[in-house]
Amino acid sequence: MTLLSALRRPLILALPLAALLGGGALAAAEAADPHALVEQNCTSCHGSEVYTRPDRKIDSLSGLKTQVEACNTNLNTGMFPEEVNAVANLLNEEYYKFGE
Ligand code: HEC
Repeated sequence: MTLLSALRRPLILALPLAALLGGGALAAAEAADPHALVEQNCTSCHGSEVYTRPDRKIDSLSGLKTQVEACNTNLNTGMFPEEVNAVANLLNEEYYKFGE
C-alpha cells in the first residue's frame, strides 16, 4: 500500500478511528470491523457470489489473502495490511473454510 492510498482513506473513517485509538495501525486493524470493510469496499464490484461460485479461483488461505490484497489494490482506497488480513480471515470463516 502506498502512502498516497493511505491518505485517500475517507476522513470520516480515519478520524474516529484515530481518536479512538490514538495509536498504531495494528490497534486500528483490531478495532476495524471486517464486515464493515467488506460492506464499504468490496460490494461495488461483486457480492459474496464470487466466494461461493462452483468454479471459484481461490484454493488456499494464502491464495485468499493474495486475492484480497489484489482487489484492495484495484480499489485504490487502501486498507491497511492488517485489515486485508482481517477481511481474508472473515471470508475464510464465512465462505472458504480453509484450514489454518
Ligand atoms: C474493482 C472491482 C472489485 C472490487 C472493488 C473488489 N473486487 Fe474482488 N474481484 C474482482 C474481480 C474482477 C474478481 C475476479 C473475478 C473472476 O476472476 O471471475 C474478483 C475476485 C475476488 C475473489 C476471488 C473469488 C474466487 O474466485 O474465489 C475474492 C476473494 C475477492 N475478489 C475479494 C474481494 C474483497 C475482499 C474486496 C474488498 C476489499 C474486493 N474483492 C473488491 C473485482 C473487485
